[in-house]
Amino acid sequence: MCGIVGYIGHREAYPIILKGLKRLEYRGYDSAGIALFDGNDIKLSKTKGKVADLEEKVGKEIPTSATLGIGHTRWATHGVPNDVNSHPHYSNSGNLVIIHNGIIENYESLKKELIKRGYVFKSDTDTEVLVNLIEDVKKNENIKLGKAVQIALNQVIGAYAIAVFDKNKPNEIVVARLGSPLAIGIGDDEFFIASDASPFIEYTKNAIYLEDEEMAVIRRDKGVKVRKIKDDSLVDPYVQELQLNLEQIEKGGYDHFMLKEIFEQPSAIRDTFRGRMLPNEGIIKMSGIEDNMKTFLNANRIIVIACGTSWHAGLVSEYIFEDLARIPVEVEYASEFRYRNPVITDKDVVIAISQSGETADTLAAIKLAKSRGAFVFGVCNVVGSSIARETDAGAYTHAGPEIGVASTKAFTTQITVLTLIALRLARAKGTISSSEFRHHMIELELIPEKVKKALESDAYVKTIADIYKNSKNFLYLGRGYNFPVALEGALKLKEISYIHAEGYPAAEMKHGPIALIDENMPIVVIATKKGHYEKVVSNIQEIKSRKGKIIGIVTEGDEQVRALADHVIEVPETIESLTPLLTTIPLQLLSYHIALMLEKNVDQPRNLAKAVTVE
Ligand code: F6R
Repeated sequence: MCGIVGYIGHREAYPIILKGLKRLEYRGYDSAGIALFDGNDIKLSKTKGKVADLEEKVGKEIPTSATLGIGHTRWATHGVPNDVNSHPHYSNSGNLVIIHNGIIENYESLKKELIKRGYVFKSDTDTEVLVNLIEDVKKNENIKLGKAVQIALNQVIGAYAIAVFDKNKPNEIVVARLGSPLAIGIGDDEFFIASDASPFIEYTKNAIYLEDEEMAVIRRDKGVKVRKIKDDSLVDPYVQELQLNLEQIEKGGYDHFMLKEIFEQPSAIRDTFRGRMLPNEGIIKMSGIEDNMKTFLNANRIIVIACGTSWHAGLVSEYIFEDLARIPVEVEYASEFRYRNPVITDKDVVIAISQSGETADTLAAIKLAKSRGAFVFGVCNVVGSSIARETDAGAYTHAGPEIGVASTKAFTTQITVLTLIALRLARAKGTISSSEFRHHMIELELIPEKVKKALESDAYVKTIADIYKNSKNFLYLGRGYNFPVALEGALKLKEISYIHAEGYPAAEMKHGPIALIDENMPIVVIATKKGHYEKVVSNIQEIKSRKGKIIGIVTEGDEQVRALADHVIEVPETIESLTPLLTTIPLQLLSYHIALMLEKNVDQPRNLAKAVTVE
């Protein structure tokens, strides 16, 4: 899981690539490197650390006149993060240089063969094996780089997005993809290569997204030629007009992407239902559902597959689908599902949820479900992502780019899409009345304003963060719709502040976690008026009698919990099924402020990356 950037054209390549790498750091940030062609030779610089470290290292050495280059920001898979394992990698002759995002699974056997033929390896990476395999093919067959890449890739098992060039042919860059994303920006006599469009959005709005098993030869003079890697057939690529703008990608005045994305939720949620829900006319329309309504209505059950935060959104959807549409739902970790022998029939509808649309386990689980006859529906944020393309139909969340590694607006927009789907199916099945249907839509329409209101707790949440920032453990409790929110709150805290936290269904507390409670344990309890309120109040009393510190997430105007808790954070009232969209807000803010006070890297927490494209 890495970010790749390339440029070939008439401008200075270095600043374009450097800025592009900074925008792609969300894909990995343990090392970075760049290779430029200065007119005579390749100039390569790479280092362990972030793109800023690369910038410092490169200093003034880099030839500013170079108009061709490639760059990489890494998240290690083979070989520890260090200077040598950083990309780009040279071939043994020094003629070829490559960047790679993905994993070559059969690299060991390929490496053994190459060693027998006299190749030597400096790094522990699979990527250095690939560039030498390409060199070996090119030399033995005396063929052009594009052809050599194609033959080499046909020997490779694994996943890749690569860009490679030859110093003896400095007018072209060859790229290819299988399982890792690769976009080509088309300018005027200039071309950009990147893992997503953010590095080139200010230069061009026209882009080709390579499909799996496609490669392209990009020539300064002749443009882009796309082929199938397997059978060499030419492909007429679809040039998309991009809707992203730069402001969406940058921090927009906030200190961190995570904070920006938390505060973007009112507009992100509105964008998610915009044009799909017309409460006054009593209509929800989503083409992916309408086109497949029969399949949904005939389904015996829905199986939701996802990972991490998306899995938590899936858990919320279990309550919504069962409550509203009366369809049985199972929610599965994609990583478990793909390696079980699950019973799946053509009467099952599988819903795959993924912000990035690139999560390897989710993608593999989709392929398994499809191979067994299930209809697979995707809920993704990234347009044109692998999961969006692999699924039979789908609905985008339209949250806009999420750059902070910890998911925030992805979660709430996923819940919004899943609510729309559940409502639409409920109406079609007749499991809710038209007035209930309309009531839900009106309540959903009010959610963006209510999220705005919930965000007003920011300053108060910060004071709570200050009190508990040095705690070693946290418990998060919730029931019903708010049980997945408790899980999500705990995950947020763990991943960005590195404080141990557990989410539990509040009633389960008695079956173990209660033993942990003492005067040092902060316990966040979601206790909104709608949804088992009295039961949760009893749970709070149990905590209080064990001297636990209670942070209650309550409905505006609540008195009962206020009388028991050490702190209460209010959220506006809404219907039960929509409470997760509000109760999750203070939990996001709490983890953000604690992490910041502990001086952690909020946007790029250690050991994590935004798109988990390895299993
Ligand atoms: C948590 C987080 C991860 C992702 C998970 C799935 O904040 O970001 O747990 O939710 O890696 O990613 P997607 O949704 O891209 O499939």
